[in-house]
Amino acid sequence: MKNASNPLALRGGTPVCAGSWPPWPVFDDTERRLLSGVLECGKWWFGERVRQFESEFAAFQGSRYAVTCTNGTTAIEMGLKALGVLPGDEVIVPPYSFVATASAVVTVGAIPVFADIRPDTLCLDPADVARKITPRTRAIIPVHVGGCIADIETINAVARAQGLRVLEDAAHAWGSQWKGRGAGVLGQCGTFSFQVSKNITAGEGGILVTDDEELADLCRSYTHCGRRKDAAWYDHDYLGSNLRLTEFQAAILIAQLTRLEAQIRRRQAAASILDRELAGLAGIRLLAPAPQMTRRSYHMYILRLDESALGVSRDLFVEALIAEGVPASGGWYRPLYANGVFRNPSREPLHGIRAPLADRASEYAQTCCPVCEQVCRDAVWIPQNVLLSGADRIGEVARAIGKVVANAEALRVESKRRGRDRQSAAGA
Ligand SMILES: Cc1ncc(COP(=O)(O)O)c(C=O)c1O
Repeated sequence: MKNASNPLALRGGTPVCAGSWPPWPVFDDTERRLLSGVLECGKWWFGERVRQFESEFAAFQGSRYAVTCTNGTTAIEMGLKALGVLPGDEVIVPPYSFVATASAVVTVGAIPVFADIRPDTLCLDPADVARKITPRTRAIIPVHVGGCIADIETINAVARAQGLRVLEDAAHAWGSQWKGRGAGVLGQCGTFSFQVSKNITAGEGGILVTDDEELADLCRSYTHCGRRKDAAWYDHDYLGSNLRLTEFQAAILIAQLTRLEAQIRRRQAAASILDRELAGLAGIRLLAPAPQMTRRSYHMYILRLDESALGVSRDLFVEALIAEGVPASGGWYRPLYANGVFRNPSREPLHGIRAPLADRASEYAQTCCPVCEQVCRDAVWIPQNVLLSGADRIGEVARAIGKVVANAEALRVESKRRGRDRQSAAGA
C-alpha cells in the first residue's frame, strides 16, 4: 500500500476519506408505522408488542425463551440472580468490557474476580479463568467483545468440571453464532443490550435469552415486581423490581430486527475487505477469532497497533486516522478493576451497593491482567455504522490506515516536535 507521497492530513495533506459515514440509528417508515400503531391503539402497557419482539428475537438467536427488560445491565443482574448467584459468591469476569459486566455482579452482592483476556480475540481467556477459580466461585461471564464469541467451548468445559454457571454477556453479539448456534444460548443464558449505540436499538432496552424454562420464569418474575408466573396481580412471591420494556420500545425493536440480518451481512463484508487489505501491514495486528464462529455481528472492527514496530503511539495513530476522515478511537475501555468503584470502595459517600466490595480495595489494587492492560493501550476501534458503507468507502478506510502506516516516520517527527513543545512550555 503506497501512500507516502501524499502527506498526512494531520500535517496539511489531503484526507483520504471525504464525505460522511452512514448515520446511526437507522430507521424508516417501519418504525413510524409500528410506533404510531401503539400510540393509536391506546394499549401502551401489556399489549402485544413486547411478547412479539421476545418471540422474534428468541427465534433469531435460536433460544427457546427470551425475557425483555430495561437495559443490558439489568439483564445481567436478573440473569445472575436467576442462576442462583448469592451475596458473597465470586463471579469471574473479563476486565476488557463495559463496567456493567462487573458492576452487575456487585449489585447482586457478589464479588467480581477478574481473569485476563486473549490477545487474539480480546475475550475471556479460559486458562486464566481456570486459575482464578476458588471454592467461592459460582459463575463465569464471558463477554463477546465487538460480537466476537469468546472461546465458549473451553469456558463451558471449565465450568462443567467445577459446577459453575455461564452467563454470556452478549451485549455486542446480536446474530453472532458459534457452529451455527446463536450467542446467548451457548451457556445457561445470555444477555443483550439495545442502548442507542448498539446494532439494534430502541434508545434503551435489554433482553435475556435461555433454553431453560424455569430460569426464564424467574427472570420474568424479577422484571415484574416479583410476581410468580400465573400468580394473582397483588401476590409477590419473590423480591423483584419493575424492569419491564415498554410497548413503544418493543415496536421500534420489531422494526429494527427486520433489517438486522442484512446489516450483519453488510458489516461482515466490510470487515472482510479490511481483513484482506490490512493483512501483513507493518505494525498492524489483526484479531483472529476462533474458526468455530460461523457468523459475526460486528459492533466495531478492532485492530491492534504494534507500537514498537511502528514507533508511533496508538493515540497519535488514531489522531492521524481521524484527520484522514476515519472516525476511529482507542476505544473507551480501560481495565475495569482500575475504576474507582473497585479501587476505592470505601470512599465517601458510603452506600449499599459498595458494601460487597468494602474490604476488597487492596485486592483490586493488586489485580493485574497484563494482556488487557496492553490491549487498552494499543487497540483501535472503528464503529459499526462505518461498516455499513459500501466497498468503495471501506476501501478508503483501508487506504487511510495504509497511508498512516506508510507515513509513520512523519508521525515520529510530529511526536518529537510535540515533546519539545511540551518541554519548552513546562520550562517557560
Ligand atoms: C459489554 C457490555 N455489557 C453490558 C452493557 C450494558 O448495557 P446497557 O447500556 O444496555 O445497560 C454494555 C453497554 O454498553 C456493554 O457494552
